[in-house]
Amino acid sequence: MARKIQIINGPNLNLLGKREPDVYGSLDFDTFFTNLKRNFEGLDLHYFQSNVEGELINKIHEVGFDFDGIILNAGAYTHTSIAIHDAIGAIKAPVVEVHISNVYAREEFRHTSLITSKCKGLITGFGLEGYALALLWLINRPADKQV
Ligand code: DQA
Repeated sequence: MARKIQIINGPNLNLLGKREPDVYGSLDFDTFFTNLKRNFEGLDLHYFQSNVEGELINKIHEVGFDFDGIILNAGAYTHTSIAIHDAIGAIKAPVVEVHISNVYAREEFRHTSLITSKCKGLITGFGLEGYALALLWLINRPADKQV
C-alpha cells in the first residue's frame, strides 16, 4: 500500500511566491506540490494549509494515528505554540519540522522552536527542497518503523 504522508503548512505560507520572495522564493506552493507529487508518484501525498492554530492541531490529530508521516512547517507558530508541541507529542506518526528559510540566520526570536523536541528532526534553510528532503527520510524509514 502507498505510504500516506501529510504536509501541513501554517500561517502566511499560503502567500508563498508573493511573500518576501528574497526570503521564501518566488514559487507558489501549489505549483511546487504538483511537481513534488510528480516526482514521488508512488506516494499518497496530501497537503493542508491554515492560518489558524486550532485548524493545524485538528489536522495533526486527524492524520496522526494512521498516516506514515507528517511534514510540518508551522510558520511563526513554531516559535510560540505549546499547543502544537503537545499535539505532536500526542500522536503516533513521525513529524519532520521544515522551514524554508534558515531560521538560525534570521532574527533571534526565530532561533527558538517549541516543537523541535517533539519532532524526529529539523530541516531548515534549503528552500522548498526541504520538503523533498523530509519526504526522502520518511519514505526510507524501515517498514517496521512505519505507523
Ligand atoms: C518559516 C520561518 C518562520 O520563522 C516564519 O514565521 C515563517 C516561515 C520558514 O519556512 O522559513 O512563517 O517557518
